[in-house]
Amino acid sequence: MPIERILFTEEQVNARIKEVAAEISAKFQGRELKLVGVLKGSVFFLTALARAIDIPVKIDFLAISSFGGDTPGMVRIAKDLDDPIQDEDVLLVEDIVDTGLTTRYLLQTLAGRSPRSIAICTLLDRTVRRIVPVPVDFRCFEIPDRFVVGCGLDYKQLYRNLGYIAVMNPDRG
Ligand code: IMP
Ligand code: MG
Repeated sequence: MPIERILFTEEQVNARIKEVAAEISAKFQGRELKLVGVLKGSVFFLTALARAIDIPVKIDFLAISSFGGDTPGMVRIAKDLDDPIQDEDVLLVEDIVDTGLTTRYLLQTLAGRSPRSIAICTLLDRTVRRIVPVPVDFRCFEIPDRFVVGCGLDYKQLYRNLGYIAVMNPDRG
């Protein structure tokens, strides 16, 4: 398998998700939260997070597709949310914020639907590659400028189901 090294073990990931879930539960205490996941990368993180949050949560998903080839940020919504988010506290749950272009697009799109509030939670944050600023409210890990897989993140649709986060070296495929 083209795994170069493990960045965060399954135990580290699970422990950190619990810490962030506690932060989120404290911040939204007494309220209901709608978790909005971006298919497919955020599914594993979102379900682990949802189980560890101890306030009432609803979940909904959207999917995006890119139309600019390899140009980052050229995205559109391919599958929209099932339900409106008007007057709800929304937490956008991402697998990774990299250039920030996808997250900014989603943030602007969702903000236009009059939620009561909108915040961003990401499993991984690679700030060294940021092109546009994104207000990340909750994040599990900052990572270096290397391509990673696991915990929902894929390489050619593979490796999403790994419980750990690993740096990938395609030459070892
Ligand atoms: P953006 O550059 O912030 O717009 O990130 C766009 C998307 O690229 C993320 O949601 C991921 O699906 C994907 N992506 C970025 N970096 C990685 C990586 O290291 N591994 C796997 N997918 C990645
Ligand atoms: Mg991907």
